[in-house]
Amino acid sequence: MKPRTISDRVSYVGAVDWDRRLFDALIPLPDGTSYNAYVVRGSEKTALIDTVDWPFAGALFEQLAGAGQPDFIVANHAEQDHAGAIGAALERFPGAVVLCTAKCKGLLVDELHIDPERVRPVEDGSKVSLGDRTLEFVSLPWVHWPETMATYLPEEGTLFSCDLFGSHLATTDLFATDERRVYEAAKRYYAEIMMPFHPLIRGHLEKLARYELKTILTSHGPGYRRPEFILDAYRDWTSDKVKNTVVLPFVSMHESTRRMADHLTAGLAERGVAVERFDLACVDLGKLAMALVDAATLVLGTPAVLAGPHPHAVGAAYLANALRPKTRFASIIGSYGWGHKAVETIAGLVKNLKVELLPPVMIKGAPRADDLKKLDELAEAVASRHRAAGILA
Ligand code: FEO
Repeated sequence: MKPRTISDRVSYVGAVDWDRRLFDALIPLPDGTSYNAYVVRGSEKTALIDTVDWPFAGALFEQLAGAGQPDFIVANHAEQDHAGAIGAALERFPGAVVLCTAKCKGLLVDELHIDPERVRPVEDGSKVSLGDRTLEFVSLPWVHWPETMATYLPEEGTLFSCDLFGSHLATTDLFATDERRVYEAAKRYYAEIMMPFHPLIRGHLEKLARYELKTILTSHGPGYRRPEFILDAYRDWTSDKVKNTVVLPFVSMHESTRRMADHLTAGLAERGVAVERFDLACVDLGKLAMALVDAATLVLGTPAVLAGPHPHAVGAAYLANALRPKTRFASIIGSYGWGHKAVETIAGLVKNLKVELLPPVMIKGAPRADDLKKLDELAEAVASRHRAAGILA
């Protein structure tokens, strides 16, 4: 395998993981992923930008063979899918020094047992010369970890952004060609790990506006020759704007909660409110996370299991709470047999959500006419909130 040319001085030396189907043993990766690494060759020195997940170290080193010894290994992020091969790279290239934020150094030393003598912290805005090319370090903390940064190559207007702007997409494309496909994959990735930090990431976008960006090279998925495409998407996702949509994850054991979900879906649709439904018994959590990025309302449907909510509903509530979407309104619907504490339990699980809780609709057994009327009232309450928020005419 040979490096792939991005410019006269920049090459791709990463690895495509075509067959990976889960990230963090949780989130589906329908299209695989990649661990992107790059080489920047200046007239005097050479830098490797990020590495790869450790099982792919061989592919990285095969591409680096013949490229000469890197003087610097830039670690934009300490997570193992990018830093996992740093230890092996330092053994292979005894003259190389790792450049990263001070916080990243601590993580590399503590978690990956990297020799601290081989790691040099860099400050926000500091520069390292490679001769006729320069690396400028841009601190962008909390692109889901606290130590993250990006690296800017001013002579080419290229930003190595690591996870930021990335997408889990295994492809031979070095750059986004099918922007619609990349948009979906990038939104999925943003939703899964960056959404909880969206106010900070909005600030990062403002910081990056100071830089002339001609090219963005991420650490997952294809890069961007038209950076405005992904910058616009991120501006939208991180904004305070919400859409006229209800996300309705539900689980049903004896069809009662499903019938309630059906009735509520129809009632919302009649009132002009869009619904994104997810049966939690067979859900793609990545799609659920994506739907939460900009929906105004979340309604969780659960039957009672041993007096509490169904474990699938507990998982969905926990995930929504962890992802901290900008959702404004929420409610709970469901059916129970002989008793329940579903509402209290779910409400206790979503304390991170800054939502107005609309009256829940918990019913005994199969829905009767007056139960369906309560669901109509919930649909009307949602529609009126959406109208007041200016997202429903
Ligand atoms: Fe792709 Fe946060 O690692």
